[in-house]
Amino acid sequence: MIQACIFDLDGVLVDTAVYHYQAWKRLANEMGFDFTEEQNEQLKGISRMDSLDKILGWGQQQKTPEEKALLAARKNGWYVEMIGKMTPAEILPGALDFLKAARAAGLKTGLGSASKNSALILERTGLLPYFDVLVDGNHVTKSKPDPEVFVTCAQQLGIANENCVVFEDAEAGVQAAKAAHMKCVGIGSTGALTSANRVVPDLVHLTPQDLNNL
Ligand code: G6P
Ligand code: MG
Repeated sequence: MIQACIFDLDGVLVDTAVYHYQAWKRLANEMGFDFTEEQNEQLKGISRMDSLDKILGWGQQQKTPEEKALLAARKNGWYVEMIGKMTPAEILPGALDFLKAARAAGLKTGLGSASKNSALILERTGLLPYFDVLVDGNHVTKSKPDPEVFVTCAQQLGIANENCVVFEDAEAGVQAAKAAHMKCVGIGSTGALTSANRVVPDLVHLTPQDLNNL
């Protein structure tokens, strides 16, 4: 019996992927190379430093740990400038109504995001009051597909993993949910995220009552 919903943030509740892409692209361009939107898909759900490593690999760049820290901070400065201007209009379709409906149905709600910027995003979009527990990149050491972020969230919610449903738009996140023995709803196009229990284009197409039939 499902007792809790754990939501990824970027790409599930808000559309921040475009800001990540713009900031990483600017950084790559400064180093003299570019990468495609297709490559950008591979950055979804993975941590800032893992993303940087992939991008440096695409550009065949060798950097020291100190240089990497500076590059990541530079990208994050641009990213924070953009998300600092977000408004509730950037909540993805159906997300707010689903959160409200889940809570009204007695389900607990948690955040399970790799981002270290989740607090700012939730504040700017007005989503903060809809969560019982927040776990993000500041609270975990291993990034998705490791299940740590979801397992920690379930522990803090006080709900057994088996009774949690994870909402994810990234393959790494679906893998993390499965590794945690949780159910998983993929948000995106059918065809991708094939190991999710169900895939919907957005949260408009789902009710909390659907969660017991995954
Ligand atoms: C999410 C996004 C990733 C991003 C990661 C870390 O999982 O999908 O693209 O790299 O968060 O975000 P941060 O805000 O900490 O740089
Ligand atoms: Mg995501």
